[in-house]
Formats: sequence, structure tokens, C-alpha cells
Amino acid sequence: VDISSFRSNTGGVITYDPGYKNTGACESAITFLDGEKGILRYRGYAIEELAEKADFLEVAYLLIFGELPSREQLEKFHKDIREQSIVAEDMKKILDGFPSSAHPMGVLSSLTNALIAFNPSSVNVDSEEDMYRAIVKIMAKFPVLTAWAYRKRAGLPLDYGDDSLGYVENFLKMMFKKPHGEYAQNKIVVDALDKLLILHADHEQNCSTSTVRIVGSSHAGLFASLSAGINALWGPLHGGANQAVIEMLEAIKADDGDTKKYMAKAKDKEDPFRLMGFGHRVYKNFDPRAKIIKKAADSLLDDLGVEDTVLDIAKGLEKEALEDKYFVDRKLYPNVDFYSGIIYRAMGIPVEMFTPMFALGRLPGWIAQWREMRLRKEPIGRPRQIYIGETLRAFKDIDYR
Ligand code: ACO
Repeated sequence: VDISSFRSNTGGVITYDPGYKNTGACESAITFLDGEKGILRYRGYAIEELAEKADFLEVAYLLIFGELPSREQLEKFHKDIREQSIVAEDMKKILDGFPSSAHPMGVLSSLTNALIAFNPSSVNVDSEEDMYRAIVKIMAKFPVLTAWAYRKRAGLPLDYGDDSLGYVENFLKMMFKKPHGEYAQNKIVVDALDKLLILHADHEQNCSTSTVRIVGSSHAGLFASLSAGINALWGPLHGGANQAVIEMLEAIKADDGDTKKYMAKAKDKEDPFRLMGFGHRVYKNFDPRAKIIKKAADSLLDDLGVEDTVLDIAKGLEKEALEDKYFVDRKLYPNVDFYSGIIYRAMGIPVEMFTPMFALGRLPGWIAQWREMRLRKEPIGRPRQIYIGETLRAFKDIDYR
């Protein structure tokens, strides 16, 4: 068999794999996943260890550049980011044009795209130095835009961060600083958010990451690729699940905590309802991130002295599902977002900001995957199809249709 003929224009064999369930689209050295064993590693490091010992910026560096940074490398990375944290004043006018009711994911993808106009040099990246500059810019400006999307919605004045703070601390301050500058820092909250962001930082070729890679494969530029990734993340079957989970848990609470009713709905094939936060394309045993997050939710609520009956409903639902034949047969377990919303809520982050928080966490993963794709000089992404439409037909004049 002449393999080259399979790669040629139209004559070769086409694999048909809807949803790419068994199709590898690239080679990657970034994230290792074993769905059967529930293993997740970034650049070879176990997620459990990174969540416990590293901070988010260190993990971002690791994902993007391949190695854990030395103290000097980390300081330089952070300094370079701090130097780029100003966003063009005219970007505020764009933000101003959105109604306050606009979903912050739409705002965030639009603003990320709008950044290109103010940073045109970020598009054509022909060298690693160009790439580095674009990476540092977006690492710096994305948290500002995320905080702005929130503040606009909340009717708070827009502001910049505080260079003296760490990356995550600074983000929290940009979010929650009061109009007169007061902000009470809470180390428990900073640490919990840091951990959550690490757990969301990469997950190999998921929907949004594949989107970033495929858009980037046309050399559209980092910010355009990220903007597309944000939109892919928005959907409730992907990152939007974290918002959908808490809305579902609230609905169950309002329904007298009747979890059985929702379990029955989820199993009813005539009902489109799914148990949000359950199931995963790759994890068919457990999601290691969910285990860490469940523990973190428990201890954060405890530390903050917050009582949230929704956490009890979530635990009850998980217990029921794990004992239910429908869920067991289909290997449906809580995923990363089943408990994350409970943590965000305890931090005072409103529901519609949950998916933007996911985007903030996933940012380094998207960047790392885009950079890898460019450095490996991957070809433009262009799947094939199995055509099922009409064969050749004679054109019908409009009077005869
Ligand atoms: N509730 C009820 N049934 C479910 C659920 C669920 N949450 N998830 C899957 N199923 C069922 C399907 O109906 C299907 O049943 P069938 O075999 O009887 O037809 C079977 O389990 C397999 O489901 P698929 O949709 O084929 O699995 P897929 O791998 O395509 O989808 C997904 C994975 C999208 C995560 C799915 O489980 C889901 O919709 N979950 C709820 C949304 C969610 O939590 N998304 C977040 C994912 S994690 C992330 O993106 C960060």
C-alpha cells in the first residue's frame, strides 16, 4: 500500500469518528491523561502534587515552557507579566458598549479579540521571542479583562491591579476592591483559588483546547485562537457546566432537596436533562481533579465558617449516583466542575463568573498547546467528512421549485 496516497487529496481512506472519540489530532508532550486509572499529569508531574506544592504561576510556566521554573525564571516571568498589565484605555469604551446583562464569557471572548487591534505585533510570531512577548501580554491582560467583565456587571469602577501582589492575589483584589480602595485580603481564599486554577490549567485535547489549536493552525494569532477557545469553553457540555451545576443544585434545593426526582430525569431518555457535573469523555473511573476539589470545598467552607446546604445536596447526589446502575453502567462520575462552583460561591464569586474563572485557569494550557502546535509547525487543521447529501442534480428554474 502506498501510504502517501492516503495523505493525498481525495483518494485516500477517511476515518469516520464523530466527536473524535478515538482520533488523535496531534502529538503532545504537555499533559498525560489515563481515563481508566484516573491519572492526570502536567509535563510528567502528578496533579495531586502540583495542587499541593506549586502555585498557579509556576504551573503556568511549567505547562508553557516544559520545566518547573527556577526562582529567577519565575521572578522574571512574573516581572515581565507585571510590566504588561496595562490595558489600552479605549478597551474600556468597548466594554462600556455591552449591556450590563451581557454574559461575561461573551464579553471576555470579545475583549480578548479586541486586544489584537491594540497589540498588532502579537499576530505574526515568527520567533520564540515574538511568541514569548505575546504570551506575557495575554497572561498579564487576561486577568484584568476578567475582573473588568465582573466589575462592569456589578456596577463597580474599573481598575488595575497591585504590582506588589502575587498573580492570583492580584486578580482577587482587582475583582473585589471596593470603590474607595478597601480590600480585605484572605489567604485561605487566595490559596483555594490558586489550587482551583491549577486543577483547571490544562486537560489535553478537550473541546476548547482543540479549538485553540485548530484556529491557531491557520496562523490566526494567539489572541484570536484564545478568543475562539473561550467561546468553545462557554458551552454547558464543557466549561459552562460549572454554572449549570450550581443552577441545578439550587433548583434541587428549591424543590425540597428532592434529588431522586432529578436522578430520574437524568436517566429518562425522553428528557434532555443531564446531571450536570457528571460524566467525562475520557475519565471512566474517576476524575482526579474532582477528588481534590471535593476535599478543598469541604475545608474552605469549614475555614470560612460558611454553611452551604448545596454542598450537602451535592454530596447526597454523588452518593446516589455512585450506587445507581444507570450511572455505574455508563461509568459516570463527578467531574472537575461538580464541586468547583461551591468553592467559587463561598469566595463571593457570582454564578455567571464561574466559567470565566475556568477560562482564567485554562489560559496557560491553551497557550502551551498553541505554542507547541506552532513550534512543531503543525499543518493547518482540516478534518474530512463523509458526504451524505444529494448526488448530481440538474438545476431547477425558480418557477418549477
Ligand atoms: N447525566 C445523565 N446521563 C449522562 C450524562 C449525565 N451527566 N453524561 C452522559 N450520560 C449518558 C448519555 O446519555 C449516554 O447514555 P446512552 O449510552 O444510554 O445513550 C452515555 O451516558 C454516554 O454519554 P455521551 O454523551 O455519549 O458521552 P460523551 O463522552 O459524548 O460526553 C459529557 C461527555 C459531554 C461530559 C457528558 O457526560 C455530559 O454531557 N455531562 C454533563 C455536562 C458536564 O458536566 N460537562 C462537563 C465536562 S468536564 C469539562 O468540560 C470540564
